[in-house]
Amino acid sequence: MYQRDPANLAELRGVDVCVCVTGGIAAYKMCAVVSTLAQARANVHVAMTTEATRFVTALSFEALSGRPVHLSAWESVDRSDPQHIRLARACRVVLVAPCSMDMLARLATGRADDIVSLLIAATDRTQTPVLLAPSMNATMWSQPATQRNVAQLTQDGFKMLEPAQGWQACRTEGAGRLPEPDDLVDAIAAAIRL
Ligand SMILES: Cc1cc2nc3c(=O)[nH]c(=O)nc-3n(C[C@H](O)[C@H](O)[C@H](O)COP(=O)(O)O)c2cc1C
Repeated sequence: MYQRDPANLAELRGVDVCVCVTGGIAAYKMCAVVSTLAQARANVHVAMTTEATRFVTALSFEALSGRPVHLSAWESVDRSDPQHIRLARACRVVLVAPCSMDMLARLATGRADDIVSLLIAATDRTQTPVLLAPSMNATMWSQPATQRNVAQLTQDGFKMLEPAQGWQACRTEGAGRLPEPDDLVDAIAAAIRL
């Protein structure tokens, strides 16, 4: 249940929002995000990496968003209008959450070999903000490679949502938690205001 200023939700009505989920333990929180966006009457399009589907099923997101989930670049391919290009153009904002350590590395090096990185490769970030919400174990977050990739992606124009501090699924406390669902919804609302 969204607990914040409902005005944020009114702004989301009729807005095409792309939510990309990657293979992190915090993927379960995205059910609440997608449900809140759907309740705000946003048009929610969910894309998942193969690894993300090990954590939460596509069926959950299909039911919550009321739309098929994008799992592969090879579905619904239309010669004149491949689906990833159509979706990238249609969306006002893209959120990748949780954004795995591996996805950060792939985006930082310009890879496009799965539905999420391909969709982002096709998104013109001068028109459409792409928010990344990294989420991982504190040691993974502190790796020089992760920090290098975060710095590179920030320089490349991605909007980085700082991970929160606190309890982690690996039973330690530290930096790397996915922000709470309401914070992610607020970040989407703020991004479309710009
Ligand atoms: C139980 C489990 C939990 C994991 N949690 C995370 C996580 O929170 N963050 C992360 O970056 N990787 C995590 N991983 C590793 C990723 O799932 C792995 O790097 C995967 O290749 C990421 O794929 P994707 O980026 O294509 O979704 C976890 C792996 C396992 C087995």
